[in-house]
Amino acid sequence: DNDNPLRPKTLGDYIGQDKVKENLKIYIDAAMQRGESLDHVLLYGPPGLGKTTLSQIIANELGVNIRITSGPAIEKPGDLAALLTNLNEGDVLFIDEIHRLNRSVEEILYPAMEDFAIDIITGKGQMAASYHLPLPRFTLVGATTRAGQLTAPLRDRFGVTLRLELYSPEELSTIITRSAGILNVDIDHDGALELASRSRGTPRIANRLLKRVRDFAQVLNNGKVTCDIARTALDKMEIDELGLDQNDRRMLESMIKFYNGGPVGLETLAAAIGEEAVTIEDVYEPYLMQIGFLQRTPRGRCVTAEGYRHLGYDFGKSNNQPT
Ligand code: ADE
Repeated sequence: DNDNPLRPKTLGDYIGQDKVKENLKIYIDAAMQRGESLDHVLLYGPPGLGKTTLSQIIANELGVNIRITSGPAIEKPGDLAALLTNLNEGDVLFIDEIHRLNRSVEEILYPAMEDFAIDIITGKGQMAASYHLPLPRFTLVGATTRAGQLTAPLRDRFGVTLRLELYSPEELSTIITRSAGILNVDIDHDGALELASRSRGTPRIANRLLKRVRDFAQVLNNGKVTCDIARTALDKMEIDELGLDQNDRRMLESMIKFYNGGPVGLETLAAAIGEEAVTIEDVYEPYLMQIGFLQRTPRGRCVTAEGYRHLGYDFGKSNNQPT
């Protein structure tokens, strides 16, 4: 995945997230002008929006190397110590899913981020010894789906916090056209926009659907992706005009049928549809809330009137059957 050819390599190639790019460019330029390492950066937002890509761009723009790892992959303090002591001056260490670091590892990270040093204890009892190990100055780039999942002491140690947002259909259409160029896929403007409007605001989904639509275009249309072929392919994949897939619809339908549209608590809903609560929060909800089909209230989740209408149910009727 690291040398995925669709990943942009510079800020100039990265489409969308304009506010994030603009500020990030200032921070990078300023650090480079001062000859310093960039302050630690926290990236947060729903999955598939380009957090890993952005971390690689940060390293590339700084002209340093990047080490990529994830919270669950760092099991012991020693694993983190090994990563940190192998960095060169100014390097980027990217930790994906940083909210999943375990406590003992996180505690090594605090002095590493703040003082660029770690304290390692070896041996037991009479043989115990502690070493103070200075580290090169480095930039930690952490990524998480929600900043609220981080412990306060970890969150406080990031100098830069950037929130990624879902992409507009126009931005996704530009990304799809760029990706199609790289993959040698023949796609017209309306084909790209049709795909874009069914990609749930998410470049990872847009690029995945582009590859599948290409398959349909190749077999049915001499390889040309038009609006028609995009529609045909996405309909076959049961992705509707707004990009909702079977999972999205199943969740909304359960809420309508079993909970009269809500409010229903997150954990109750998770149990009802057999998904984890975090999957609902991170994967399903952001887009459904963005398009106004779902609301979070203090008493739980509710399907909106538009959500009812889209699924073909009457709003406000109990014991709903599709109309
Ligand atoms: N591919 C995935 N995300 C992208 C982005 N934001 N810009 C360009 N290409 C991308």
